[in-house]
Amino acid sequence: MKTTINSGSIGWESPSNIALIKYWGKKGNQLPCNPSISMSLKNSLSRTLLHYEPKTKENALRFLFEGKRQVLFEQRICKFFESLSDQFNFLNDYQFSISSENTFPHSAGIASSASAMSSLALCLCSMEEEISGKQLSSDDFYKKASLVARLGSGSASRSVYGGFVAWGESPSFSKSSDEYAASFSQYIHPVFQDFQDAILLVSSKQKEVSSSVGHELMKNHPYAMARFSQANVHFERMLGVLRSGDLNDFIQIMENEALSLHGLMMNSTPSYTLLEPNTLELIERIRSFRSSNNIPVGFTLDAGPNIHLMYPKSVGEKVLPFIESQLSHFLEDGRFIMDEKGDGPRKIKI
Ligand code: DP6
Repeated sequence: MKTTINSGSIGWESPSNIALIKYWGKKGNQLPCNPSISMSLKNSLSRTLLHYEPKTKENALRFLFEGKRQVLFEQRICKFFESLSDQFNFLNDYQFSISSENTFPHSAGIASSASAMSSLALCLCSMEEEISGKQLSSDDFYKKASLVARLGSGSASRSVYGGFVAWGESPSFSKSSDEYAASFSQYIHPVFQDFQDAILLVSSKQKEVSSSVGHELMKNHPYAMARFSQANVHFERMLGVLRSGDLNDFIQIMENEALSLHGLMMNSTPSYTLLEPNTLELIERIRSFRSSNNIPVGFTLDAGPNIHLMYPKSVGEKVLPFIESQLSHFLEDGRFIMDEKGDGPRKIKI
């Protein structure tokens, strides 16, 4: 590629997302074994600034997280950049100084690799446009950013879009692909337009198992095939629910997905139990609050003990006092984080 610009600075802000249909198990070059759907968040963001200039030294990448050098993450990004030579053939000619910060606390049950990797992928796509002087169409730009983000972390592929986002091939969604995510922007029922996610912090302990190790567990899992077909069925049903607004079905599928994920971890070899006693206590309380008050509030979980409490904004006035009076004493320091459906990434003006 003929380069026209030597150095520059780019910034992107990109959200984390919470999966409603879980990606668990990968194949080939970071491709999912089943389709997944997530909701992009509004307040839980990574802000990444990337400065590039022509390479003059061997050690060509410096990474600061919240102002401090992070050697481990720096090594992960170096490997990531090396793996991107097919996507960006100019990378080896530049040196980089990258700094990133999150608007949410570490180990709170909010996927930081999704927001971090998607913001970095967006920076690289903008850099390509700057140095080549060629602009992609908006569709192609985000498709490429999603593909690049996926190579960094699977769930990050979904964070380059706002709202409800699907990743992984399915006959029920024509835009779907294993290579990149696509926004599910067809008609979404109004009840989901202002959906809320209250993240209940049961424990901020470091995760016992990384998701990469977790995905590996699916390779020889006795229930792998059953899981992948369950996820396909759930995916198709969830697309229908997002159109119809059927909250009972929504909650049933979402909770089943979360508990299936943890079930798979519990009966993997080796086995992991990431749910804490307080997680189970909260699940009981959420279910009983829902059935006795007829309020559509349900939960989902990532690969950890913290709960994402999901509900339409219209019942927020009832859910908030419920969290404060009946759930908060089971939370670490009574902490929870309020988030909601967001509109996706934003380029930062520098
Ligand atoms: C349980 O995307 O973190 O959150 O591709 O190895 O980076 P890597 O895994 P990652 O896995 C996410 C797993 C999950 C479910 C989901 O987000 O779909």
